[in-house]
Amino acid sequence: MFGPKTLALQKRAQEIVPLGVNSNFRFWGEGITPYVERAKGAYLWDVDGRKYIDYRMAFGPIILGHSYDEVDQKVIEEIQKGILFAMTGELEIAVAEMIAGMAPAMEMVRLACSGTEATMHAIRVARAYTGRDLILKFEGNYHGFHDHTLWSTYAPVEAYGNRRSPIPVPASSGIPKSMREFIITLPFNDFEGFERMMRSYGEQIAAVISEPCQGNCAAINPQEGFLELMRRKTEEYGCVFILDEVKTGFRIANGGAQEYYGVQPDLATYAKALGNGYPIAAFGGKREIMSIIGHGVAQGGTYTNNKPGVAGAYATLSLLKSKPILKTIEQRGQRLMDGLKEIFEENDIPAVFTGYPAMFAFSLGVEAVTCQRDWAQSDHALYLKLAEKAIECGVMPDHDAREPWFLCYEHSDADIDETLNVYAEIVKEVKR
Ligand SMILES: Cc1ncc(COP(=O)(O)O)c(C=O)c1O
Repeated sequence: MFGPKTLALQKRAQEIVPLGVNSNFRFWGEGITPYVERAKGAYLWDVDGRKYIDYRMAFGPIILGHSYDEVDQKVIEEIQKGILFAMTGELEIAVAEMIAGMAPAMEMVRLACSGTEATMHAIRVARAYTGRDLILKFEGNYHGFHDHTLWSTYAPVEAYGNRRSPIPVPASSGIPKSMREFIITLPFNDFEGFERMMRSYGEQIAAVISEPCQGNCAAINPQEGFLELMRRKTEEYGCVFILDEVKTGFRIANGGAQEYYGVQPDLATYAKALGNGYPIAAFGGKREIMSIIGHGVAQGGTYTNNKPGVAGAYATLSLLKSKPILKTIEQRGQRLMDGLKEIFEENDIPAVFTGYPAMFAFSLGVEAVTCQRDWAQSDHALYLKLAEKAIECGVMPDHDAREPWFLCYEHSDADIDETLNVYAEIVKEVKR
């Protein structure tokens, strides 16, 4: 799939870095793991000089385009005035104000450096606020690498047990067994199961944490009323409702899923599109909850106001506010989704499309997908065969069928046309 320089770099990397990558998700296998040279706009080039239309967008952060000039210029201007002070500056306050101005539920905001940190802090605040320890999360949702919620994310669904009494499965060795005491897992979109679990444990649950859609499992959408049910039941039992908008925030609408669905969580977490690739994250929400930080509740970090991240967020949010960027992405993404749908229909391949035009996925060989247990029945081998052929033709979705296709502002109509031509060809070829 890749050229000789890629293969040589993988060998060299594996001598010094475990798996030859700095995050497990970036390892696709021996000889099929990409190594990148540079990226600009909607494109990236691998170390062999091959060019791709990129639909991974670094797992979502790149909302404007790779190396977007207006953002990079602001970052350069700001870092020349110093990168880190362990003191507070005006720009970070302006970023917090902008987040609060765009996302309906954000009354107070704290910054962080990654989505993992943002969810970890939000969980601590929720536990501190409620005086409870239990966390409820949904199978197939991912909230970062910390031990609190790295449960039932990517396990084979056979390990999850019966859906009436799901078994939380740790996604890694090294997570203390005792942490299982603090986690409840459930299939996404399981209205009845959620109500039952809340009846049994509601008064012990500190937080229900959920992605609005399953951004780490084919972007499976919430069924109508499911987010509202979470909102209602958490309120009834005095739990904190944390909406993890790390993937949806500043991508599916300027106000993220809160605006899109009109649902107000108690706390929400952001990263990714917030900074167009610069390392920045945020969490925030109700003043009553957030204002316990600093009053017996610890939160912070050396790099939480790092200037590249803060300046990147400032420039990105300014652009999102001033131009119809997400609307443009939505139109192009819709065209891509519709075109792909048509190709699968023409070739008699059942395909379920989920997610949003700026962030969508498709599951092959199934009729409906409402949770990870359904998704597991889809034809991953076919998805993968197509993805590998697409990559050989210069179109790069992720190698993992669960990972959505991400679009940015710089994906042009011509890129969409080229992508559709490639898929029309390879789907026909695979069908043959
Ligand atoms: C919904 C969600 N939450 C949290 C995270 C963790 O973010 P990070 O990789 O920045 O730590 C991710 C990462 O993909 C995510 O998709």
